[in-house]
Amino acid sequence: MAGVKPAVVVDLAGVVCPLPVLAASGGLAPGGGATLVDLRRLGGVVTRGLTLGPRRGGPTPRMAETPAGLLSWTGLQNPGVERFLLEDLPRLEQAGVPVVVSIAGSSVEEFLRLVGLLQHRPAIVALEVYLGAPDEERGRGRPFAARLDRAVEVVGAVARMSRLPVFAKLPYLEPDLVETARACVRAGAHGLTMIDGVPGLAVDADRLRPELASPIGLLSGPAIKPIALAAVHRVAQELPDVPIMGVGGVATGRDAVEFLLAGAWAVQVGTAMLVDPAAPVEIARGILAYLKEKQLESPAALRGRLRPPRGAP
Ligand SMILES: Cc1cc2nc3c(=O)[nH]c(=O)nc-3n(C[C@H](O)[C@H](O)[C@H](O)COP(=O)(O)O)c2cc1C
Repeated sequence: MAGVKPAVVVDLAGVVCPLPVLAASGGLAPGGGATLVDLRRLGGVVTRGLTLGPRRGGPTPRMAETPAGLLSWTGLQNPGVERFLLEDLPRLEQAGVPVVVSIAGSSVEEFLRLVGLLQHRPAIVALEVYLGAPDEERGRGRPFAARLDRAVEVVGAVARMSRLPVFAKLPYLEPDLVETARACVRAGAHGLTMIDGVPGLAVDADRLRPELASPIGLLSGPAIKPIALAAVHRVAQELPDVPIMGVGGVATGRDAVEFLLAGAWAVQVGTAMLVDPAAPVEIARGILAYLKEKQLESPAALRGRLRPPRGAP
């Protein structure tokens, strides 16, 4: 086995990425962050969650640092799909990077109109349905993911209409994560992205105020890595043939390897890119070094290879 030269390309059951490390939704500045990172060195880019019209986002402050993560609530700030197609997508196309577009409708109809506008551009390799988007149609602003019937309805409608593979982006759901994941796949999702940020509150005790205007935000970064790993592990054990993109606290090659061992097919990087936009490049290098060390041929060789716990029968 000496001299094994690992290949890092990954095939998410038909969605091919040159590297198993993608920029997560929100990881790149609007406009593709093209000046901050060499997009050609990413396995792919997941865009900000897009709505039909532009969104200015929620009131400020929208971000707070916590001891092991970032608390944020952007209120889905985005340029809207038309401006994305005119300004951002051409830059991503030029870089030749696979683009996954995150869609964040507030009704099933808005999701479907987004699909109609997006699905014929060759650089777009997949759609990611943001189930954390507020359901203004029937959920009184609660996320689509909060109700299994709504999650299934929106994923099913998008998958039926879309010519592109569809990934459902899930938060950690207790106790229904596996059931929701399975239902999304049955409804037509090609794959799953897990997880979204975890709800949290940061308190400024000096001013007796919450730190964010929202005031509850989503926690991301190192603090949520074990939660994201648990989600990936639980779902991958039940649905081993479904491509999973693991996201939550990936900052190093070692973190990424942990996700692959837990059952992810690829990883996405959000918060770590806000600290260092080139983080995915180092993460991909770290995966490659690990593969070489273990004399394995590809990231797929790591998938789900977690052994039973010490002392297990
Ligand atoms: C500033 C910011 C904006 C985000 N915007 C989106 C978004 O528009 N759509 C989405 O699906 N996830 C969004 N996310 C969530 C990330 O894609 C990711 O699921 C989460 O942050 C966990 O990964 P991380 O720990 O690597 O950041 C955002 C995260 C951050 C920090």
